[in-house]
Amino acid sequence: MDDLWSEARARIEAATTTADLRDIEVAWLGKKGRITLALRGLGALDPGERRERGQVLNRIKRDIEDALARRRDEVARAEIEARVREERVDPTLPGLPVACGHLHPLTQVLEDVEDLFDRMGYHVMDFYEVEDEFHNFEALNIPADHPARDLQDTFYLEDGHLLRTHTSPGQIRAMRTLPKPFRAVFPGRVYRFEATDASHEHTFHQVEGLMIDRSVSVANLLSAMMTMLAGVFGRRVEVRLRPGYFPFVEPGFELDVRCRVCGGRGCPMCKQSGWVEFLGCGLVHPNVLRAGGLDPSEWEGWAFGVGLSRLVLLRYGIDDIRWLMSGDVRFTRGF
Ligand code: DAH
Repeated sequence: MDDLWSEARARIEAATTTADLRDIEVAWLGKKGRITLALRGLGALDPGERRERGQVLNRIKRDIEDALARRRDEVARAEIEARVREERVDPTLPGLPVACGHLHPLTQVLEDVEDLFDRMGYHVMDFYEVEDEFHNFEALNIPADHPARDLQDTFYLEDGHLLRTHTSPGQIRAMRTLPKPFRAVFPGRVYRFEATDASHEHTFHQVEGLMIDRSVSVANLLSAMMTMLAGVFGRRVEVRLRPGYFPFVEPGFELDVRCRVCGGRGCPMCKQSGWVEFLGCGLVHPNVLRAGGLDPSEWEGWAFGVGLSRLVLLRYGIDDIRWLMSGDVRFTRGF
């Protein structure tokens, strides 16, 4: 009988889970448990011995019940403590990195240009990427047989529309819709059907500007250009102005800026010349004013068209325009 107790106690103390304790309870106190069987066996003894053994067995039974209850508490507490230890949150550990997107460099520069002109009192407008021959060519003084049509190789749609080859058609639409006088810029995506290289892409971005008033001057045009460049590059930029031919302006100019990729030494971006053709501009041709519904004896205008893509390349010193529309995150992550 002493063994019954000491063995039970040893097993209870060694138990580490509530399941262990349940097994022990069944083995000693269950229907066929050792204590239960021993108590049942008392009936075969004579009364004196039966009482004596019965008292001892019942004491052992209570001791086992007490020991089980105590151990159950301990095990339960240990189990909770283990869980708390395992599931503990360490607030000092670094968090998971959050991938954060940002604006494409083209969009960043575009927003700067829009802000700049907005502050100078310009309308900022959007026009169509799918245009017709009239707005893209004819109204801009480029008739069908004009050699200038060859200057811009065009994507035609099956229905006769085309993807605009420049943002200049916006000039006609702006003249026809805005109250005069006005100044406006219209940025947008343009398309050319041509071979691509470091400085040519079939899809790129331009910003067109147009000022219409009773009397305008080239000096005023130039000052607007210098303001835009200083704003985008954050400092004065070295430029040169050359006569340039565009059917929709007279006189027409080309404005070049010092190549910022190579600093003027020569590189693929500037075709080794040290200068990058930057924008075309001039005084709006009377035929274009007429196409826009304006009387050239009453109104004058100046216009410019700048490669926004080129602005981005120069601002960041990128040497290949094809990166811009590549969708390659190895490139865009750098901005
Ligand atoms: N549309 C011309 C081009 O894409 C750029 C241009 C030149 C726009 C002169 C103008 C301008 O408004 O006056 O090459």
